[in-house]
Amino acid sequence: MISKAKGTYDVLPNESFKWAQLEDKARKMLTLFGYKEIRTPIFEYSEVFHRVNEQSDMVTKETYDFLDKGNRQLTLRPEGTAGVIRSFVENKMHVQNNLCKLYYIGPNFRYERPQKGRFRQFMQFGVEAIGSNDSALDAEVIGLAYSFIKELGLKGVKVRINSLGDNESRQNFKEALTAHFMPHSETLCQDCKNRLDKNPLRILDCKIDNEHEAVLSAPTPQDHLNAASREYFKSVLSYLDSADITYEIAPKLVRGLDYYTHTVFEIEADIEGFGAQNVLGGGGRYQSLVKELGGPDLPGIGFAFGMERLLLAMEAELLSFSSEPTPDIFLVATSHEARLEAIKILFEARNKGLIADMDYTGTNFKSQFKAALKSNSKYIFIIGEDELANLTVAIKNTETQEQEQVPMKIAVRTVISALGK
Ligand code: HAM
Repeated sequence: MISKAKGTYDVLPNESFKWAQLEDKARKMLTLFGYKEIRTPIFEYSEVFHRVNEQSDMVTKETYDFLDKGNRQLTLRPEGTAGVIRSFVENKMHVQNNLCKLYYIGPNFRYERPQKGRFRQFMQFGVEAIGSNDSALDAEVIGLAYSFIKELGLKGVKVRINSLGDNESRQNFKEALTAHFMPHSETLCQDCKNRLDKNPLRILDCKIDNEHEAVLSAPTPQDHLNAASREYFKSVLSYLDSADITYEIAPKLVRGLDYYTHTVFEIEADIEGFGAQNVLGGGGRYQSLVKELGGPDLPGIGFAFGMERLLLAMEAELLSFSSEPTPDIFLVATSHEARLEAIKILFEARNKGLIADMDYTGTNFKSQFKAALKSNSKYIFIIGEDELANLTVAIKNTETQEQEQVPMKIAVRTVISALGK
């Protein structure tokens, strides 16, 4: 037997309806907020991800990079943003829209240590709003994530927010951090030692060093915001207040990807047993990503939710989706002649919008009837010798156990009106 690859999972039929419903809910909410779907490839030229996230752990350690048969250097996408921006630039989307509001749903790939809520192939849905520096847009994007969590019914959830400031503030902060951590380099964990040189921001939210004295006393991004960045952040918070979005300022929140400037945020679930994987989603503003990928000098902001984590959080809070649909009609017909009639009725029912099925494995009446009961169908249609002779169907209501003989011609219609469809 060949097993699934490490860090992957199968969505089996008894779970897949939850995924379909989660996607459905996401699409509805995204449409309400005026976002349109974009579908970009699962693999891109490596530079799409590597150039813009050069120093991030995600790119240095976690991407699936490969050469194809034509010697092209490719990468399975580890996140959605860079590919969407590549497409935005390549398709010159800014020409037709001052503000482009895009959403995406799809798989991503990161070579991480698998554990609960962390996979090597995982699903995200996310948004990118490209083309505006308006701080109200930050509140809209955070508000969208917040509204979705509420729509799912999740309660133990917080929005944590911070600002890294513009490129100048961020650079000043980076230098201050390097100066601060340098004298402590020997006592930092191995990852943080490596980060010190290239990506000191990440030391702030290191899971290993979070109690380290130097981390506790480190400067925060807000200490280095210039006046314009400070004003911008203040304005974002005032819009959040106005929209009644509850948040918590997280002075040490910096996020793992390199492209963020100004607002960064995460949606965190306070759920038992979640451990380090309690971040359901995150995002932020990016000032230079579009330009770095060869486009015009336009800013963007977005976020992504990890969909496995949303489902796990729902399970942990005992929230359920509406149950899987069961058939309206299941047909039982044993003789060849009866099956000829049954198949006619089967297609008629489906054409009229009913979920209908019949058994293709059992030969005798007993096994077909067993299959009908197992399907949890609302009605069972039986076509036996008598029914065939009289051109009728025996319709059994599986809830009331009542059974009646109905002319074949009106059998489907009878069920339609009984179901009030
Ligand atoms: P990210 O924080 O790397 O941001 O990922 C967003 C979410 O994806 C995480 O909060 C988590 O729920 C989920 N996630 C990440 N890695 C895994 C994994 N290995 N297994 C399961 N779930 C995972 C981004 O990806 C940015 N592109 C978000 C963004 C959009 N920023 C601006 N626009």
